[in-house]
Amino acid sequence: MTTAKRMRILSGIQPSGKLHLGNYFGMMKPALELQEQGDAYLFIANYHALTTVGDPAVLRANSRDVALDFLACGLDPQRTVFFRQSDVPEVTELAWLLSVVTPMGLLERCHSYKDKLAKGLPPTHALFAYPVLMAADILAVQSNVVPVGRDQKQHVEVTRDIAVKFNLQFGETFTIPEPAIRDEVAVVPGVDGQKMSKSYNNTVEIFGTEKETRSRVMKIVTDSKGLEEVKDPATCNVFALYKLFATEAEREALAARYRGGNFGYGEAKKALFEKVWTYFEPYRRRRAELEKDPGFVDGVLKDGAARARAEARKTLNAARLAVGLD
Ligand code: ADP
Ligand code: TRP
Repeated sequence: MTTAKRMRILSGIQPSGKLHLGNYFGMMKPALELQEQGDAYLFIANYHALTTVGDPAVLRANSRDVALDFLACGLDPQRTVFFRQSDVPEVTELAWLLSVVTPMGLLERCHSYKDKLAKGLPPTHALFAYPVLMAADILAVQSNVVPVGRDQKQHVEVTRDIAVKFNLQFGETFTIPEPAIRDEVAVVPGVDGQKMSKSYNNTVEIFGTEKETRSRVMKIVTDSKGLEEVKDPATCNVFALYKLFATEAEREALAARYRGGNFGYGEAKKALFEKVWTYFEPYRRRRAELEKDPGFVDGVLKDGAARARAEARKTLNAARLAVGLD
């Protein structure tokens, strides 16, 4: 009889700006829900953020904000190992061992690398090797499930390729992970209709002020149909965001108003704002409490680092042994 292996979940987020609805629905919420179902590891990818954040004070402030955001949104530090990537330096050594079996071509094909160059970022080695470090994060704790938004799918595929190659060449060392991507939230649209992203200035932040949140929601781009005209919820960015918060009955009710005519986008935006604002209300309160207790947050991250390091060390020792560095 085989005993089912307990699911091991890992995901990370770069502290490269304020977290938004795309981050929340694409990655945070799925990851936080999975913490009930297996052993979860969540981390702040500050080594990765160094590829784009050049100001040490900004990196520090963002890292602290992301820690508060996750804890406020329901990360349970008893259950989930929560840590800063830089507190687990084993991953950088593991990344080197993985890079030995990583073909250049595999990295050259990565969309994220090509997109970053297209946006004008200088082509540094760190930007190029980014997916190898991400593979090390995932493989270090032998995770089998990686909850992410669709833009990270290719990086998880690269991780799988690297792990398979390493196992073939040096013997079974790594668990092969799977991405966990929820279709309905794989790409959350921003206020301009493109993918919501910190780098497109099109976000609705999770913890913006009431004024900021309202103003972002009011900026959502719609078509120019007049008040009396019949409207199509399926092609509307406001509706796409509303759907993330609403029950089935609420969605149907709003869709019916779109189709009925004499209903303006301004009203839909108001309904969306109310949803966003009330949804995050309990998290905002929790965040304000946590902000008063930096010692607690530091303690959580310190404890998480120790737990993550212990796992990463086991994997690193096995990988060192496999390649002949014992
Ligand atoms: P950004 O594009 O804002 O810089 P990140 O690349 O830091 O976001 O993404 C962090 C996590 O959030 C990843 O798992 C990513 O797939 C997810 N994510 C980011 N934006 C979206 C979006 N618009 N829709 C769905 N998931 C997203
Ligand atoms: N590259 C991811 C992002 O930008 C962050 C990340 C780093 C990550 N290491 C990871 C995500 C490991 C999942 C697993 O969103």
